[in-house]
Amino acid sequence: MYYPDELVEEIRAKNDIVDIVSGYVKLTKKGSSYFGLCPFHNEKSPSFSVSPMKQMYYCFGCGAGGNVFSFLMNYENFTFQEALKVLADRAGVNLPEAEYSAQARKEADKKTVLLEINKEAAKYFYYQLRGRQGEMGYRYLTGRGLSEETLQKFGLGFANKTSNDLVSYLKSKGYQDEQLIQAGLAAADERFGLHDKFWNRVIFPIMDINHRAIGFGGRVMGEGTPKYLNSPETLVFDKSRNLYGLNFARTARKNNMILCEGYMDVIALHQAGFGQAVASLGTAFTLGQANLLKRYTDQVLLAYDSDGAGTKAALRAIGILRETGLAGKVIDLSPYKDPDEFIKNLGAEAFQKRIDQAENGFLFEIRILQQGFDLSDPEEKTRFHREIAGKLCQFSEEMERGNYLEAVAEQYQISRESLKKLVEAYAVREGLAKPINRPKSGIQSANRAKEGIRRAQRLLITWLTEEPYLYARVKKYLSAKDFTDELYQKVAEKLFEGFEAGNSNPGSIASFFPDEDEQRQVAMLFNTKIELPDSLPEREKAFHDILLTVKRNSLDYYSGRQGSDITAINQVLEAKKALEELNKTHISLQE
Ligand code: CTP
Ligand code: MN
Repeated sequence: MYYPDELVEEIRAKNDIVDIVSGYVKLTKKGSSYFGLCPFHNEKSPSFSVSPMKQMYYCFGCGAGGNVFSFLMNYENFTFQEALKVLADRAGVNLPEAEYSAQARKEADKKTVLLEINKEAAKYFYYQLRGRQGEMGYRYLTGRGLSEETLQKFGLGFANKTSNDLVSYLKSKGYQDEQLIQAGLAAADERFGLHDKFWNRVIFPIMDINHRAIGFGGRVMGEGTPKYLNSPETLVFDKSRNLYGLNFARTARKNNMILCEGYMDVIALHQAGFGQAVASLGTAFTLGQANLLKRYTDQVLLAYDSDGAGTKAALRAIGILRETGLAGKVIDLSPYKDPDEFIKNLGAEAFQKRIDQAENGFLFEIRILQQGFDLSDPEEKTRFHREIAGKLCQFSEEMERGNYLEAVAEQYQISRESLKKLVEAYAVREGLAKPINRPKSGIQSANRAKEGIRRAQRLLITWLTEEPYLYARVKKYLSAKDFTDELYQKVAEKLFEGFEAGNSNPGSIASFFPDEDEQRQVAMLFNTKIELPDSLPEREKAFHDILLTVKRNSLDYYSGRQGSDITAINQVLEAKKALEELNKTHISLQE
């Protein structure tokens, strides 16, 4: 479906970038922009900026950047069409609907079809839970303390005892065998043909952060194996990049997230008022999931089962959290097995107390480690201390390492001085000293000169965008053609057209560059950091220098192409004249 530029622009203009981004990233105002932790790479201090004036975002750390469309495309993994649709809905703009004929559906994007199938299946399961055949399931779930409201919120359902009723239902809706298999809802079998994957189980739909069903978990009622059956990974179900309950937890507005192991734990916690609970999807916690959490919080509380397997999983999770720069803490659930049982027995208030008393992840690791050593034996004690020293070396920041050293020394009554010495010895032995800086090669310096010119072009565009009144003062000397990079030139054309019309808008210019890499470059163009000198004369000199650099390069560039091209000749003559004039002209930066 193709939408006209005007419609795209209307939708963009009606969705303020600060509103959109702050739905995902905590932003703090700083000058005329907002800053936060970049959702596109790991970082501990904010280099991600959002400019209300430019209606763009840009990360000074990783270079991610663009407008509202590209933000959603990158963050939510949307196509342009999907981002457009979401933002149109949000702004109350009607998009002309595409009509789905049987033929068109066949051709429609496979992902969309799988999501449609999942949605139909979720509705079907939900309906069954409330029917006669689902009575057992309904009784099972309410018997575990879930309210009708909770059942609805999580869309819980039931898969009947008959082993092919979902398949027949979905086929009656026009879906093909192959599609049902790709959706992970059916399996083909030589003897029985195509049959349901889930039967005689209560169903937990797994939703992505946009509340779209992407997979299912089914639990047997009572005892039986396997206890849980889960959808396989499909085109729309990536287990390592989704978390159960995150669709609700992301807007819970608590200052932490609670990570549990089970679906029932998440549901019980939400019902008890802990809307920030999530769980991994029947698989171990992954780095992808940690990065997902990092978009919403900087502290994760682990509420893993209190048994041996749970402890082991918690230790792994702590390591992963640390890798992404998240602080991990561990909630003590004893004497109960998991959050669900804890809440059922001791209630929400007691759980809140356990949250408040959650143990620091590193100290948890050390405590578990200690259990493997008999501290009354001097040799084991020494080994324990050595292991602590090794673990302390994970903290590359001296201050952080020092704080942990102090905490551990106190808790285990180790002399601070000798622990410190041990850490230093360990660091030297493992070669943890800083890497040596090697001098750069000759080829790199040529590239540096080129890059310097590109940078001057970027600086000029950013500067003009931030102080648009300057355009009138330089337009005599400057044209879009002076930007010798193809993409820069296109952007400059649009920008200058906008200046002429009095409505220049970087965010709208970005819409003309749908390619992700181009979006990043456009964003960089509008966000090149300008470290401005304080005094006006110095600033004016800086501006003048940048302008001269751009013009000189333009002259060089077109001189090299003169033979072939009449525009090049004109450009050279123009640039020569402009340069001469510029050399004797003072351009005031006073508004
Ligand atoms: N799980 C799984 N397959 C199994 C067992 C468990 O996929 N055979 C996953 C499920 O996602 C489950 C989680 O691991 O939610 C935790 O397992 P467990 O602690 O056994 O389940 P609970 O959530 O406590 O389930 P319940 O309270 O219903 O017994
Ligand atoms: Mn449980």
